Amino acid sequence: MISVLRNISSLARCCEAGGQSDLHAVARAALVWEGPTIRWVGAEAELPAEYRAITSFDARGCLVVPGLIDCHTHLGFGGWRSNEFVQRSLGWSYHDIQFAGGGIHASVAATRAATEEELFTRSENFLREIVRLGVSTVECKSGYGLNDPTEQKLLRVYARLAAAGPVKIVSTFLGAHVIPIEYRDRRSEYVDLLIDETIPAVARDRLATCCDVFVDAAAFTIDEARRILRAGSRAGLAPKMHADQLSWGGGAELAAEVKAISADHLEYASDAGIAAMSARGVVAVTLPLATLYLRQRSVPARKLIDAGVAVAVATDFNPGSAPSYHLPLAMTLACVLQSMSPAEAVKGATLYAARAIGIEARAGSLESGKAADFAMIDAPSVEHWLYHFRPNACLMTVIDGSIRWLDSERLETRMSDQGTLPTFT
Ligand code: NIG
Ligand code: FE
Repeated sequence: MISVLRNISSLARCCEAGGQSDLHAVARAALVWEGPTIRWVGAEAELPAEYRAITSFDARGCLVVPGLIDCHTHLGFGGWRSNEFVQRSLGWSYHDIQFAGGGIHASVAATRAATEEELFTRSENFLREIVRLGVSTVECKSGYGLNDPTEQKLLRVYARLAAAGPVKIVSTFLGAHVIPIEYRDRRSEYVDLLIDETIPAVARDRLATCCDVFVDAAAFTIDEARRILRAGSRAGLAPKMHADQLSWGGGAELAAEVKAISADHLEYASDAGIAAMSARGVVAVTLPLATLYLRQRSVPARKLIDAGVAVAVATDFNPGSAPSYHLPLAMTLACVLQSMSPAEAVKGATLYAARAIGIEARAGSLESGKAADFAMIDAPSVEHWLYHFRPNACLMTVIDGSIRWLDSERLETRMSDQGTLPTFT
């Protein structure tokens, strides 16, 4: 079935050409899709004759953007850590908490104790909220298991969520999040276990498409990360990194060396690391919610963009450093904290986010042949959307051509004197 959405005040196509701020916006636009795939995008005045007779739906002057892509989350975990939020407000650092046995270790204990069903239900509930924000794809990391049964439990949850909706899922193996407490005095054994057994098994069972490592004084060294990421690449898992988050650690440089698809965080990335990432086409994923919650210095987004690095924006949703899955808020913070323009933040949460998780061929922009994943935003422009921050400006989320979220009440108010609600499925 072919569907046509008309009367879009502005449609941000977010195509590849141009720089980070080039959204390829079309004013007074229309969008045509057939089943899960976009067929035509352009100015409504130029809508091809073959589509004009088709019953169409009225966007009533909304902004339309590609479905947002949250390319960095730790979606599945047991428990919460609001006690650490309090501790940090009293002056404890992230490392103080971690070295005292809290932090990631606390979430590992709670995640090991949770059943698969509990983790599934909880993650699904998060996703039901996330889809309302205009998000169509979520990258989900394991990393709160740190043993085979629990890591696999998390990755199975993600596989079930991928099949059940409401959004698309990309899974990342993060067995190298920290050294588990039981391996504290024999870290090389844990690294060997990941390399020799766990990573090949995850790849063989197709439980993830990416492999991530946290490089940090309280996590893995550069040499350990290099070995782990190479093992991942050999098994067919795309390398990703938590790099230079709390201090400089040579993360950006290693990301370039192993040709990672992304290096994430990067508050303390060096100029040499930024240049190397640019030369090797590594996407930088900025996580302004984590920067804010941990009171870190801002990511040098302008330096990255000026050096030719694509800068993606994501939430880092997790129970410690970023306990929020509000991607539009992260985008507003990218503007405020990192001096990115709203247009740059939008391209960073769409096309470049898709690139950071290897799904650019099918998602991230509104172009003929790509997935019909888009969000209808109650704002006249991307600038206004991110400037006038509200709990939720998204009125409708469409994924693979079907409505996954529709705020009929607000849409009705907006449309009270003009026509009917969109009813396509
Ligand atoms: O991306 N940096 C490492 N991992 C997470 C934090 C996880 C946690 O604190 O539980 C992050 O910030
Ligand atoms: Fe993270």
